[in-house]
Amino acid sequence: MNRIFSTETVNKVGEEVLLKGWINARRDMGKIAFFDLRDKDGILQVVGVPSELDEKSNEELKKIRLEDLIELRGVVQARGAKQINPDMPTGTVEILAKEIKVINETVALPFEVSGDTREFSEPLRMKYRYLDLRSERMKKNLVNRHKINLFLRNYFSGKGFTEIETPYLTKGTPEGAREFLVPSRLFKGEFYVLPQSPQQFKQLLMVAGLERYFQIVRCFRDEDQRGDRQPEFTQFDLEMSFTDQEEVLNLMEEAMIKLVEEQYGEKNIMQKPFPRLTYKEAMEKYGNDKPDLRKDKNDKNELAFAWVIDFPMFEKSEEEQKLVAVHHPFTRPQDEDLEILEKDPLKARAIAYDLVLNGFEIGGGSMRIHERDLQNKIFEILGLSKEEIESRFGHILEAFTFSPPPHGGLALGLDRLVMLLQGEENIREVMAFPKTSDARDLMMGAPSTLPSKSLDEANIKLK
Ligand code: AMO
Repeated sequence: MNRIFSTETVNKVGEEVLLKGWINARRDMGKIAFFDLRDKDGILQVVGVPSELDEKSNEELKKIRLEDLIELRGVVQARGAKQINPDMPTGTVEILAKEIKVINETVALPFEVSGDTREFSEPLRMKYRYLDLRSERMKKNLVNRHKINLFLRNYFSGKGFTEIETPYLTKGTPEGAREFLVPSRLFKGEFYVLPQSPQQFKQLLMVAGLERYFQIVRCFRDEDQRGDRQPEFTQFDLEMSFTDQEEVLNLMEEAMIKLVEEQYGEKNIMQKPFPRLTYKEAMEKYGNDKPDLRKDKNDKNELAFAWVIDFPMFEKSEEEQKLVAVHHPFTRPQDEDLEILEKDPLKARAIAYDLVLNGFEIGGGSMRIHERDLQNKIFEILGLSKEEIESRFGHILEAFTFSPPPHGGLALGLDRLVMLLQGEENIREVMAFPKTSDARDLMMGAPSTLPSKSLDEANIKLK
């Protein structure tokens, strides 16, 4: 007999089936034992009646404990009207056990996984993440994340976009955060840098003539952690040629609406088309650039999307009071502000936009510069010397001499989008193996010290 999954039982009333899974709960009522079997798809109620089982199975039934892994042969029975549980996908049936075999026993778990594990301490959940992920809620978060990925992948493929992978071992790309460095073994004293985003690569793909690119891509930023920030996170990254802001916004907006309609039918998008506010309006009216436009913040089904547009090109950095790009230095200034770029850079506006959802920035993008001279001028305004421009950005300036098309794009913070759609309050809840709030991986024990042999090979001497 082939093993089937728990949710397949609902169409097999009267049939004998073979199931495998973990014991999620157990209730003994006299001699009869009820237990829940959990597999990747769900939870299924099983009834163990001694007279229905052989001697060996009766022995197993007596000793099985929470989270033991078992194999079960049994008959699918329809539940009586009163016993039907509409909240469970398998709530119309139960299994009358005929044979029970323990595949693998467990020692006692450090915390219970049959309910909502958020009641346990986070370090404990993180150390035993593989157990935390046994819980229904966490599993659902990962499965639905996969479905969101799949939706976006199919949607944009259908619009003529090509999914292309770009390198993780590369050179720094400025997105405003500190970077993770990877020492080169072969080139003493030289380093790769993990990308904060594939920004330059996707622009170079436009120079290459790919025209429509997307990627579900890991990004790395060595910055302070928050509930909506991780040192490595995932973007749904997109770029297109011969486009304008209107087209990028409409395309992404349509994708978001379709995604919600198809996969989150219970949720309501507050306003369609999404409201658009200029950065100035948002700051004046709400005091921040990611306003929460929900009417009732306690209603978990409200989704208030909004676009914030017309961001400034530059701002003064808090630490050094130096001019820095608000989005990134590849962002295109608005035509009418080209004149004031040098005279009054803080007043110049960019063709840059953010997608906001319920008070979170879930995406950001811009039209780009594709003219060598203008790009060079932006680097100069940012205070880079000729030498710095050449060593850090010579490659992209040179690429812009080979007939690059006008282009622009956007990147969604996928973790944040999934968090909000799943009704979670922290992106850690929708990542399989996130870092703690102080950027540690408690399960693997990273970061960690290295044996001196490894350091030697990487040409590293510790201070
Ligand atoms: P930006 O830096 O705005 O743009 O990033 C895009 C989106 O990524 C998400 N995000 C994060 N999510 C989790 N943890 C983090 N540390 C983190 N940092 C950012 C946010 C954000 O809106 N290359 C440009 C995109 C472009 O111009 O096309 C970029 O990376 O949701």
